[in-house]
Amino acid sequence: MTDYRRLRVALLGAGAVGSQVAALLLRHEDELADRAGARLELAGIAVRDVDAQRDVDLPRELFTTDAESLIVGSDIVIELQGGIEPARTRILQAINSGADIVTANKALLATHGTEIFDAADQVGAQVYYEAAAAAAIPIIRPLRDSLAGDRVQRIIGIVNGTTNYILDRMDTEGAELADVLAEAQRLGYAEADPTADVEGYDAAQKAALLASLAFHTAVPLEAVHREGILGIDRAMMDAARHAGYVIKLLAVCERLSGASDVSASGEAISVRVYPALIARTHPMANVRGVNNAVFVQAEAAGDLMFYGAGAGGVQTASAVLGDVVSAARRHIAGGVGVGESTRANLPVLPIGRVVTSYQITLEVDDLPGVLAAVAGILSEGRVSIATLEQTLAPGDGARARLVIGTHKALEQDLSETVDRLAESDVVERVVSVMRVEGD
Ligand code: NDP
Ligand code: HSE
Repeated sequence: MTDYRRLRVALLGAGAVGSQVAALLLRHEDELADRAGARLELAGIAVRDVDAQRDVDLPRELFTTDAESLIVGSDIVIELQGGIEPARTRILQAINSGADIVTANKALLATHGTEIFDAADQVGAQVYYEAAAAAAIPIIRPLRDSLAGDRVQRIIGIVNGTTNYILDRMDTEGAELADVLAEAQRLGYAEADPTADVEGYDAAQKAALLASLAFHTAVPLEAVHREGILGIDRAMMDAARHAGYVIKLLAVCERLSGASDVSASGEAISVRVYPALIARTHPMANVRGVNNAVFVQAEAAGDLMFYGAGAGGVQTASAVLGDVVSAARRHIAGGVGVGESTRANLPVLPIGRVVTSYQITLEVDDLPGVLAAVAGILSEGRVSIATLEQTLAPGDGARARLVIGTHKALEQDLSETVDRLAESDVVERVVSVMRVEGD
C-alpha cells in the first residue's frame, strides 16, 4: 500500500447526502487515495443528533455535535448541513483555518457566495460546489473551466428534481401536486422545507450560480425573477399536451444585446425561473422524473446538453466526492485557489425586458365581433398572433375558449396587454398565460 500523505477531512451533516458521502469515503478509501494522491481520513461527522437513525450504517464514534472543534486542523471541510446558519459560520471558520471547502449548499452560495468566495480568495483557499446545481450532473466545472474560453449565450435548465418529478407525474399519470410532493419528500429529493422546491427558490438559487459562472458576473439572488409551480393544475397540463407542449419548471439564463441604456457595451443578462411550455419535440421535454438537464448554447461550441440525476443522496454524493478528490489534489500540489471570475459585471435586466413567446388562454362570449376585439387589443399592445384555436368553453355553450399563441413579444407589452384583455367587456376570464421557451 502506498504511503500517501494523510489529509484530515471533516464532514458537516449526515443526512440524505452526507451519510452517503461518509459511506463512500470509507468504502473506497484505498481507491480514492490512489486517485487523489492522498489518504482522505474522515476525522468526524458533525450532526445535531448523534443517535439519529442514518440512511446507511456508519461508525458511531465518528459522530459529534461539536462542529467547531472538528473543523480545527482539517484540510478539507465538506459542508452538507444545508441552510444559511450555522453552515455559513462553519465554512468561514474552516476557510480561515486553512481548509478547502466542498459544499452542495446552493441556498448559502446564492445568498452569501460573495462573502465566502472573498474570504477564500484572501487566504488562497478553494471552494468547490459541483453538487450545488443539478446534483450529480457535472455542470459547474464545464461552465467554470471547459467553457471559460467561449461566450455562453443561453442556458435553459431543468434544475430542480422535485418539481420535475411532480410535473412529470402530473403530466403522465394525472397525479395531484400535493400527493406527488409527499412522495418526493419521502424519497429524499425535496429540500428540508419543500416550499423551496415548489415555489422555485431552489431553482432560482441554482440559476444564480449558473448565470454567475456562464456570464462572469456576480448575480444576486434578488435579481433572479422567480415563479413556482403551485399555480399549475391538471387542466393546464391537459391544455399543454393538446397543443403539443409539456410544462416544465425552467431556469433560463440569457445574454441580451441592445441594452445600451444600462451598459456601455449594450450587453446585459436575464436570469429567470418559471413554469413554461416547451415543445414535446425539444430535448428538454424528455427529461423525466427526478432528472435534471442543462441545455447550454455557446457562441463557438454550439448546443451542449448535460443530463442526469438532479437529486438523491447517493447521486449527489458522487459530485461531492469528485470535489473532495479535486480538493485533495490541490492540497497536495500546493498553490493558491482560483477565485471566481466575475469581472464582466453585466447588468441583470428585469423580467419586463425579456422577449419570448406566449400562450394566452381566454374565455370569451361566443358572439360576432369578439374575435376582432381581442385581435385589436393584442395588436394595439404590439403582441402579434402566431396561432389561434377556438373551442367551446366548458359550461352552457354560450362561451368560447380561445388559445392564442403569440410571436415573440416584450414581456412588459404582453403583461400590459393581458391586463387590458382582462378588463375588456368581451373577455369573460383570462384562464392562463404561459411563456413558451426553447422555440
Ligand atoms: P438533510 O436535511 O437530509 O441533512 C442535513 C444534515 O445536516 C443532517 O445530518 C443534520 O443533522 C445536519 N444538520 C443540520 N443542521 C445542523 C446544525 N445546525 N448543526 C449540526 N448539524 C446539522 O439534507 P440533505 O443531505 O438532503 O442536503 C444537504 C445539502 O445538500 C443541502 O445544502 C442541500 O440543498 C444539498 N443538496 C441536496 C440534494 C438532495 O438530493 N438531497 C441534492 C443536491 C444538493 P441530524 O441528522 O442530526 O439532524
Ligand atoms: N431539492 C433539490 C431538488 C435537491 O429537488 O432538485 C437537489 O438540489
